[in-house]
Amino acid sequence: MNAPAWRAPSASEPTLRGLALPNVRMGTAVDDRLLAEDERYRTTLASQFNAITPENAMKWSVLEPARDHYDWGAADRLVEFAEANGQAVYGHTLVWYGSLPSWIDESWSPSQVRAVLRKHVTTVASRYRGRVWAWDVVNEVLAEDGSLRDTIWLRKLGPGYIADAFRWAREADPDARLFINEYGTEGRTKKSDALWRLVRDLRAQGVPIQGVGFQSHLRADQPPTDILGNLRRFAALGVVVAVTELDVRLKLPATPEKLVSQASLYQRVLAACLAVPTCESFTVWGFTDAGSWIPHRYQGYGAACVFDMGMRPKPAHGALVAELRERESASPG
Ligand code: G3I
Repeated sequence: MNAPAWRAPSASEPTLRGLALPNVRMGTAVDDRLLAEDERYRTTLASQFNAITPENAMKWSVLEPARDHYDWGAADRLVEFAEANGQAVYGHTLVWYGSLPSWIDESWSPSQVRAVLRKHVTTVASRYRGRVWAWDVVNEVLAEDGSLRDTIWLRKLGPGYIADAFRWAREADPDARLFINEYGTEGRTKKSDALWRLVRDLRAQGVPIQGVGFQSHLRADQPPTDILGNLRRFAALGVVVAVTELDVRLKLPATPEKLVSQASLYQRVLAACLAVPTCESFTVWGFTDAGSWIPHRYQGYGAACVFDMGMRPKPAHGALVAELRERESASPG
């Protein structure tokens, strides 16, 4: 049986942004190409989400492909789209080992590396000052065993580069929420314990780290343990928490049963976020299977998003709507 053709949601149909609770942004990563090329994508994006994260447009290799030659085009277009549609922008990401421009040179001295890194953080955070509500200041600084990941930043600058990045970002933008963002830390794991200690220690040193982002690239058949307890222990450190890159990949084919188990994991993650008063945003890493990174990374896996290839809502979208409705009806007044 053919899937019904795509149509824009009617005013009476529930949307994630329509049901969003006042203190929890409902966001998605945005794919520049689909944003530029697909009207259905733009309509669904604007109608369903009140927050966005650039999937790639604010990464260093995109912003400064050649040294001192900036290409702000994709990032500016994305911020303008968000502002035109009343959406908050979550900046991703200032310091990462991935998607670095090819001109960054391992043979540089530590002071050269430090100067280049500081200039990048300052330039980018200053440009979007007042236009982003938060930044992933540092992304994926931990290795799987919880030790600090071996990156050019650690090799050249030592562990102190993390604290420095937060101080530089704070200087450039006094108002944006400053996050550390990580994966494989959504439940009680060795890596999550290490992240908890790192955040505790940075805060004890007075480093302006305000938020912890849990990427949440999950498998429907391997849910994290104690999602809520884990969020709560981080919140108890005095930071805000956020789900920053949620997708739930399925071993293909995506049968109706698998779509139901996917929906329940999406709902569980949202329920955990809504149960923590300082969980400030719930972001999916792309809302349509048409733009998902999963099939490129995990062979035989896919269908990870809440809308299908044709941008029609999947059971996961219904589960998120149900969770928001339940909270809405439970909240006083
Ligand atoms: O835009 C170029 C295009 O011009 C070129 O023809 C094409 C072929 O090489 O590459 C395109 O760039 C690709 C880009 O996605 C846009 O599609 C890059 O090669 C590719 O590496 C990049 O992948 C992104 C990846 O991060 C690396 O930056 C994924 O889309 C994105 O979903 C993924 O997101 C990361 C988060 O930033 C951090 N957490 C994990 C998450 C998943 O890996």
